[in-house]
Amino acid sequence: MSTPTLTRTVRSESPDATHRLGLRLGELLQPGDFVGLIGDLGAGKTHLVRGVAEGARVPRSEVASPTFAIVYPYRGRIPLYHADLYRIADYDELYATGFLELPGGDGAVLVEWLDRVPEAAPREYLRVTLYPTHEDARELYAEAFGDRPAALLAAWLP
Ligand SMILES: Nc1ncnc2c1ncn2[C@@H]1O[C@H](COP(=O)(O)OP(=O)(O)O)[C@@H](O)[C@H]1O
Ligand SMILES: [Mg+2]
Repeated sequence: MSTPTLTRTVRSESPDATHRLGLRLGELLQPGDFVGLIGDLGAGKTHLVRGVAEGARVPRSEVASPTFAIVYPYRGRIPLYHADLYRIADYDELYATGFLELPGGDGAVLVEWLDRVPEAAPREYLRVTLYPTHEDARELYAEAFGDRPAALLAAWLP
């Protein structure tokens, strides 16, 4: 694993605070951006994505919990692809889903459980790891790999 271009740590004290963090990120996302989300079940990955979707002006009714599909496409200010790799066994299985054609495409990509298939990450991306600290508290550790992800992170968490 290469060294991140830029890192940031931020605390969230409530589900709402995580949602607001996501909302701000969603306002900044551009086509081609790729965000990998890492953290155990219940860490808050989906919560963050719901905020991102709102920030990208995706109609609330479109946002699902992608437990059974691998990729959910949302239509917001830009296309947003929400993927969950929890049930993906390996890279070959992911290949069959079409997921690998998304990076660098017409929209931004958000991927829960990226650590299940680390090879699925493009060369440049933003990785956010969520750690539960107390009951309603989370620590978000963001690592940007590459110039555009670093600019995105700097704008998101100045
Ligand atoms: N600060 C916080 N940020 C996000 N979720 C939180 C926070 N505190 C408590 N929670 C709770 O943790 C759970 C997170 O669920 P979810 O977002 O589906 O996690 P994941 O997608 O990582 O499995 C929710 O029940 C939410 O209410
Ligand atoms: Mg989830």
